[in-house]
Amino acid sequence: MEKSWDNEFQELVKALPKEDGWIGSHLYFYQGFWCPALVLKSFISFQKNFQAFASDVILATFPKCGTTWLKALAYITFYRSHFARDENPLLSSSPHQLVRFLEYDLYLNNPFPDLQNACAYEPRLFATHVPYASLPTSITDSNSKIVYICRNPLDMFISLWLFSTKLRDNNLRPLSPDEAFDKFYHGIYAFGPFFEHVLGYWKASRENPNKILFLKYEDLMEDTNSHLKNLAMFLGVPFTEDEEKQGVVPEIVKMCSFENLKELEVNKKGLHASGIPNADFFRKGEVGDWSNHLTPSMVERLEKLIQEKLNNSGLTFKLSCKTSRIFYPSE
Ligand code: A3P
Repeated sequence: MEKSWDNEFQELVKALPKEDGWIGSHLYFYQGFWCPALVLKSFISFQKNFQAFASDVILATFPKCGTTWLKALAYITFYRSHFARDENPLLSSSPHQLVRFLEYDLYLNNPFPDLQNACAYEPRLFATHVPYASLPTSITDSNSKIVYICRNPLDMFISLWLFSTKLRDNNLRPLSPDEAFDKFYHGIYAFGPFFEHVLGYWKASRENPNKILFLKYEDLMEDTNSHLKNLAMFLGVPFTEDEEKQGVVPEIVKMCSFENLKELEVNKKGLHASGIPNADFFRKGEVGDWSNHLTPSMVERLEKLIQEKLNNSGLTFKLSCKTSRIFYPSE
């Protein structure tokens, strides 16, 4: 990746702390987070050049915390008046094609991408993994809205580890569970440390709840219908009584469910703009899978870390939950 950087950029990053990433490329510590080499340049272009509109909605997420799911739910809900119920765009496009990443896609090879044509409808809907403190000021200072999703760090770690194992350069030996855990514990992974990222959005959402909707994967899993209704209200497109009677809410929930999306042809093949196979965004989609992978001592260390980092923040995470996913009221 670094070979494609011009001299000026090489010079800029020379002084940055650098670590081996999880899949074979480097991570650079920049503005308080570990930025993957792949998106360092595009992140800087995005931060410098992006001009938010007051009507924009940005889906901000921590990697492996439900980005794909949130993109599907938000896109279908936000734009539902634009297409017939039997012509759902999710049938022909992956959630990542529908809601495009700013740093991982649009700015990847172009410091001034055509953002107008990047969204099929208005208002514009984009996605990012960039921490709150590093967002372009035109997003934080305007009336644009942000929907954030995160997840309990134990499940996020397992999801990240198994995802990275698939993507890791074949010429490298696999990361052992202990090596992966050590990197995770010290916050060394794309957009880490997790706690700083999550707390940045958490604090901003508490200060300005009309601007930032803060969601957790576990809550969404436990009661997707209610959270979808809140999301629609937040986006300014609440479900009407008529829509509720017609079962539009459970229909969207079912359409965007893990089981449904995973089985769609469009999500089984093809690559995302970053080179990641679409299928790799769908693994197990459960809360609590960490218990099948982590040792008791890993759990103990992570629980202590969570306590220490979230202390007095008012933010908590569920490590397990009842899942509502097999119950669809319209059936
Ligand atoms: P697991 O690895 O635990 O299965 P992201 O989209 O941010 O990369 O997050 C990926 C995680 O979300 C993976 O978790 C993936 O299986 C899960 N996921 C993908 N689509 C989902 C959906 N529609 N509903 C619930 N979880 C989903």
